[in-house]
Amino acid sequence: MGEWNKRFWFGVFALLPTVLWAEGSDYTELQNFVIQDCGSCHGLTLKGGLGPALRPGNLEALPAAAIAAIIREGVPGTAMPPWKALLTDHEIRWISEQLKSGALITPQSRPEVAQ
Ligand code: HEC
Repeated sequence: MGEWNKRFWFGVFALLPTVLWAEGSDYTELQNFVIQDCGSCHGLTLKGGLGPALRPGNLEALPAAAIAAIIREGVPGTAMPPWKALLTDHEIRWISEQLKSGALITPQSRPEVAQ
């Protein structure tokens, strides 16, 4: 098995549970995916890190559709990877709307972060 194959299958098995759970009726797993995976670069509270802050005030200039396009395709030449192979369009749209509204970082929706 080539190196690419190994990495591909590792990625599939590492991410499959996250993506499948996210298909359920509540979005807890998708929310955790954003906090953990996106948060590894954008900060666990989305205040920025390797990548820029993703709080509503930082995204004012970007409509939800533009954010969705960035998530889908990534930003070529930067560390921001494309996510279209891992997330459905529906999930990407949901994430974009959460980023615009700030729902992922409010204490009400993240009680464990508020403590
Ligand atoms: C490996 C690091 C990394 C990961 C993981 C990552 N990003 Fe990024 N992201 C970046 C970097 C770096 C940029 C800045 C690209 C640039 O210079 O334009 C960026 C840019 C963005 C932007 C554009 C912000 C702006 O103000 O222009 C959005 C939106 C975004 N990322 C969302 C996400 C989401 C949602 C996830 C999880 C699905 C995610 N990112 C995961 C590194 C990452």
